[in-house]
Amino acid sequence: MTDRKNIVQNILKNKNTKIALKEFPPVFAPTNIALCKYWGKRDLLLNLPITSSLSISLGKKGTTTTLKAIDAPFDRVILNKQTVSEDSEFYQRLVEFLNLIPNRVIHFEIETSSNIPTAAGLASSASGFAALTLALNNFFQWQLTPTELSIMARLGSGSACRSIWQGFVEWHAGSREDGMDSFAEPINQQWAELCIGLNILSSQEKPIGSRDAMKRTVETSPFYSAWPNKVKEDLHLLKQAITQKDIILLGKTAESNALCMHATMMSTWPPVVYALPETISSMRKVWELRQQGVNVYFTQDAGPNIKLLFLQQDSAIIKENFNPMEILQPFN
Ligand code: PMV
Repeated sequence: MTDRKNIVQNILKNKNTKIALKEFPPVFAPTNIALCKYWGKRDLLLNLPITSSLSISLGKKGTTTTLKAIDAPFDRVILNKQTVSEDSEFYQRLVEFLNLIPNRVIHFEIETSSNIPTAAGLASSASGFAALTLALNNFFQWQLTPTELSIMARLGSGSACRSIWQGFVEWHAGSREDGMDSFAEPINQQWAELCIGLNILSSQEKPIGSRDAMKRTVETSPFYSAWPNKVKEDLHLLKQAITQKDIILLGKTAESNALCMHATMMSTWPPVVYALPETISSMRKVWELRQQGVNVYFTQDAGPNIKLLFLQQDSAIIKENFNPMEILQPFN
């Protein structure tokens, strides 16, 4: 059986491990929102997905991380200027990730700050593990290739492998047992007018993390068997929509993909429902606006928040109808 440590050892086999004594400037990784979701793993330890997925990175929304070696018996983690308790799951996940480095003798202070709510279904773990991977690469001067960076970030959190890049990104599921063919790559297309609207309805911790919810879905949803085919079709349509800059095709495909993912979750036992009443109200508002001829669509991840997809020309009407609403233009 391949474990995470073997993979990292393999990646680092012929790399430098010079420790830079100077401090590096902070590194940044964007968060990303999947237009075709990653939902279900074929390997729980290596975060290997059952299907490929496609996302868009959110420009300046993400995580900034600084790493320094400290003379202390433990690692120290500072999140948004607050020291994180060693008992917390957040701390444990980061330290487990650091422990994948072969023969690690140094302890780190990881100072990390995120301009998105942590654990509210806005993929903060994606930007967090991507930023940490980039920071480690700088710190040890490994000079990892983009593919290796993506694979390593994936070991922290699946969707982190997509946060190595800005813009549209595809994560290839791969089929190898060791996951060396499961990494993300950018799709070389720009779309300046494309807007993402963040309708943050709750920043509270979600009732169940995506890791457990995915596992439960794969194990107990009678609808999960239909999911891989849905993804295959949607990936094809999304790529077509991106190339043709077709907001209707992009929006329709992303919204339908998100609703199908949530349908697989609702059919698990015990059921997993991330939507709050406010989530449903926002969805209804999107459908009403569409009836009035506005090309606006939504997507939803493992949390209650809604992310809207539309073009710049409709920004004013979107702002009028949704509160709160933060509009991002990932390509500007
Ligand atoms: O990478 P994780 O374990 O945070 O899972 C991400 C799951 C979704 O956000 C719901 C879908 C996705 O592709 O990002």
